[in-house]
Amino acid sequence: MSKPNATSKQLAIDQIHCMDAIAGLRRLDDESIDLVITDPPYNVAGKNKTTIRHGRVMSTMEAWGQWDCLHPFDHDILLMQVISECYRVLKPGGAFYMFTSRQDNGYFIRKAIARGFTYRNQLAMVKTTAVPSFFKNSWRSCFELCMYLTKGRQGTFNFPEQREARNVHEWSIRTKSTTHPTEKPLDFIKKLVRISSNPGDLVLDPFMGSGTTAAAAKEQGRHFIGFELNSEYIDIAKTRLKGGRAAGSKAKQMNG
Ligand SMILES: C[S@@+](CC[C@H](N)C(=O)[O-])C[C@H]1O[C@@H](n2cnc3c(N)ncnc32)[C@H](O)[C@@H]1O
Repeated sequence: MSKPNATSKQLAIDQIHCMDAIAGLRRLDDESIDLVITDPPYNVAGKNKTTIRHGRVMSTMEAWGQWDCLHPFDHDILLMQVISECYRVLKPGGAFYMFTSRQDNGYFIRKAIARGFTYRNQLAMVKTTAVPSFFKNSWRSCFELCMYLTKGRQGTFNFPEQREARNVHEWSIRTKSTTHPTEKPLDFIKKLVRISSNPGDLVLDPFMGSGTTAAAAKEQGRHFIGFELNSEYIDIAKTRLKGGRAAGSKAKQMNG
């Protein structure tokens, strides 16, 4: 597999760089990326929102750490910058998949359209093993949303079987392979990669976490580049990419 032409100012391809997403994005050349799949902080963690980690009920703030607790204004700015930079670095026709919280999905779709993206669809990941309702006073959170837009006219779309092309994906948290608290399902991300890119293409994820996008790209003969601030998560991703057992993979959790 040949490497794509120089796509970044001194940033290596097939690496997860330990750096801030915006700083990293600014070092990528215009129109150098074939596909973006990203899962930025949802900014929903809180003291009163519960999850299960290592078999214990705890607040999402305790379970996830500080990265999901931005001031709402700063979160808006972060995601607007991400949208803007991803638009700049994508090649014409390239696809942009971004997960957000349910309440923010429409808001950031409108921001992406305002930046120039063309709206295509939304995909829902339905959790078959969602966290139970501890207080039994509201609906259980059983799905997450991912927006799908393209930079202008749609480029690559390798249509699979009709069944696989449904915009709903069922997900059991039992398939998690690392201790990252918000690891996305590898089979779903692999599907996005397979459908919206071709072998040898370059896939970007500015918020790599446990490296799911990188693993999906690598397993399917695509190149990847991405960023992650937390060096422990980068270690987990590196182990995963080497084919080793990711740190603490026995400990499974459920997300809210
Ligand atoms: C929702 S998680 C991504 C999980 C990933 N999709 C996976 O499957 O493992 C978001 C990640 O972004 C990282 N992060 C938060 N702010 C960041 C920033 N400004 N730049 C780079 N990474 C950041 C967090 O450490 C966290 O791992």
